[in-house]
Amino acid sequence: MFKVKRICCIGAGYVGGPTMAVIAKNCPDIKIEVVDINQSRIDAWNHSNVSYLPVFEPGLGSIIENVRKVNLSFSTNVKESIRKADMIFISVNTPIKKTGIGAGETSDLRWVESCARQINEIAIGHTIVVEKSTLPVKTAQTIKDILFSSNFNDKSRSFSVLSNPEFLAEGTAIKDLEEPDRVLIGGEDKDAMYALREIYLKWVPEEKIIFTNLWSSELSKLSANAFLAQRISSINSISAICEATGANINEVANAIGKDSRIGTKFLKAGPGFGGSCFKKDILNLVYLAKYYGLYEVADFWRNVVEINNWQQKRIYQEIVRRMFGNLAEKKIAILGFAFKENTNDTRESPAISICNNLINEGAVLSIHDEKVLEDTIKNDLSENDFETRNSKGEFKNRWSFERDVYRAIENSEALIILTEWQTYKELDWHKISLKVKSPFWIFDTRSILTCEEVKKYGLNIWQLGNGDNN
Ligand code: NAD
Ligand code: UGA
Repeated sequence: MFKVKRICCIGAGYVGGPTMAVIAKNCPDIKIEVVDINQSRIDAWNHSNVSYLPVFEPGLGSIIENVRKVNLSFSTNVKESIRKADMIFISVNTPIKKTGIGAGETSDLRWVESCARQINEIAIGHTIVVEKSTLPVKTAQTIKDILFSSNFNDKSRSFSVLSNPEFLAEGTAIKDLEEPDRVLIGGEDKDAMYALREIYLKWVPEEKIIFTNLWSSELSKLSANAFLAQRISSINSISAICEATGANINEVANAIGKDSRIGTKFLKAGPGFGGSCFKKDILNLVYLAKYYGLYEVADFWRNVVEINNWQQKRIYQEIVRRMFGNLAEKKIAILGFAFKENTNDTRESPAISICNNLINEGAVLSIHDEKVLEDTIKNDLSENDFETRNSKGEFKNRWSFERDVYRAIENSEALIILTEWQTYKELDWHKISLKVKSPFWIFDTRSILTCEEVKKYGLNIWQLGNGDNN
């Protein structure tokens, strides 16, 4: 059997970095190099202090400390790394296309294609190319077409293409990688499939490693994300019915989750799903369905995204309505900007659209997050990062960043919980009640607070999915 000795992973992002760290930890006999074209990202991966790693993930720092410079390295030397590797993971970004055919729906594959072209140009001997990125079904064919295009007569070079999608969730990436529900390997070349399986067998039980054909593997990844996102849109749609009828979303979720066919996970209502993948992957499915003329299927999945957009819009409208239909010059504290807890990632975070809408209403935001950096927020709100004159003719920004949560809240007229960070569950409401304007509103979009607790201090609260809101 083909034995893998050197791995190159192209793409040092949220997937490439943690995934290779866990492989390195479990396979000390394999040399792994993670390469990227982004020099500052590589510098951050190489930073001696692991609290400066580009990705915040619980447990990642200690693994990196143990394996970096032993059998895991990070560099920008893409070509050299491709040449030396016998297995190459493609773990680059696959965002939605912005222009041209399929714009707004299908993935922009320019980064994947450029990897395939580089591999074709540089690789020597036998190379197993593994799709780790999430890709539209049939992308493996594109990769094969590129790799095999110039190798008809060259017997010294050969390639096998596998699909090995990643199912980790941010914030729990290390646990998900160490104890995966399953590892999916799609392919045609059994030798290559067994070689990849051999790597995972170092720490994953055999029965959890599934073999499929290439297209089932690619489609399973899109489908898994679509099913998960669909559950969130389902529970969010019910949250609105709860508010209208007097039911409570946490009680409903608990009751339906007890049905073992439904299960308890992914039933937490909130401001809508964010993250770089759910929306993108459902839209890919929508595009695929339309491509094959399956318009009803496309409509079904598109509605999951529509409900998600609507949830964010209705939260912002609820805030405006409760604050007398007027947010002009009102200071509002935003608690949480990351798309979920335990990550510094803000891609597609519901906070972006909600904050943009509040700024457009004239609000002045004071934003706090446990891990997100000010520059990231600046980037995300850049369209609204204009300066306007206040009544004294001075320039005034529409938002600021606060490291201290209590300072963010001080002198504000409302606070909105958008990310479920633990800190927000433990706030001192007595202390807060002494330093805010009155009437004061709390908008708990993650329904993590106990309403009675905050009402004791004369604070108003609106909680997502709570039929007792009045
Ligand atoms: P990311 O944007 O964090 O990282 C991708 C990296 O690839 C970037 O640093 C970029 O500079 C680099 N890159 C792009 N083209 C390159 C090239 N030609 N050579 C070298 N480097 C190159 O993306 P991510 O979040 O790690 O996601 C990567 C893929 O994994 C996507 O397809 C995504 O859908 C999928 N995925 C992501 C997650 C997640 O939790 N983020 C989970 C499962 C799957
Ligand atoms: C998700 C999947 O869970 C991973 O399996 C997958 O690998 C990954 O996408 C990917 O392909 O990128 P991730 O986006 O990191 O992982 O995080 P999730 O925990 O799935 O949360 C996604 C969004 O849904 C967050 O905004 C979260 O707040 C929201 N969510 C999640 C809810 O609103 N309610 C829930 O019950 C669960």
